Amino acid sequence: MNEVLRSLGTMYNIERAATAIYKAQVRAFRGTEIADKLRAAIVNEQEHADNLKARIEELGGTAPRMGLLFQMGGMALGFATALLGKMRVLKTDGWVERKAVKDYSGFLQRVDFDEKSAALIQRNIEDEKMHIKNWEESIQILLKPRTGY
Ligand SMILES: [Fe+2]
Ligand SMILES: [Fe+2]
Repeated sequence: MNEVLRSLGTMYNIERAATAIYKAQVRAFRGTEIADKLRAAIVNEQEHADNLKARIEELGGTAPRMGLLFQMGGMALGFATALLGKMRVLKTDGWVERKAVKDYSGFLQRVDFDEKSAALIQRNIEDEKMHIKNWEESIQILLKPRTGY
C-alpha cells in the first residue's frame, strides 16, 4: 500500500475514534448547550471519516478494518472520561483535537498527497481547530458561576 493510502487510512481510524469518544460523552452533558456542541462534533467527525473513506476508495484502496478497534477504543476513552467528570471530558477532548491537528499537519508536510486529498485534509484540520475552540469555550461555560433561576 502506498504512503498516501496508508496516511489517509490512519486519519480515517482517528476520525472513527473521535466520533466514538464524543458519542460516549454526550450523556454527561444532558440538557446543556455543551451537549449540543458535542452532538454537532459527532456529525462533523463522522463526515471526516466518511470523506476520508470516500477518498481512499476513489484512489483504489479500502478503508482499514482496524477502524472498528479505534471506534471501540474511542468509546472506552469517552466513557472513562465521562465518569471522571465534565472538566476531564473537555480537557481530554481539547488534547485529542490538538493532537489531531498536529498529526494531520505532519502528514501534510511529509506525504506527497494529490491536490484533492490535500485539500480534504486541510478542510478537516480547519474543523478540528474549530473543535479546539469549542472545548475551550465549553470549559469557560463550566467555570462560569451559575446565576439564579
Ligand atoms: Fe475530525
Ligand atoms: Fe475534531
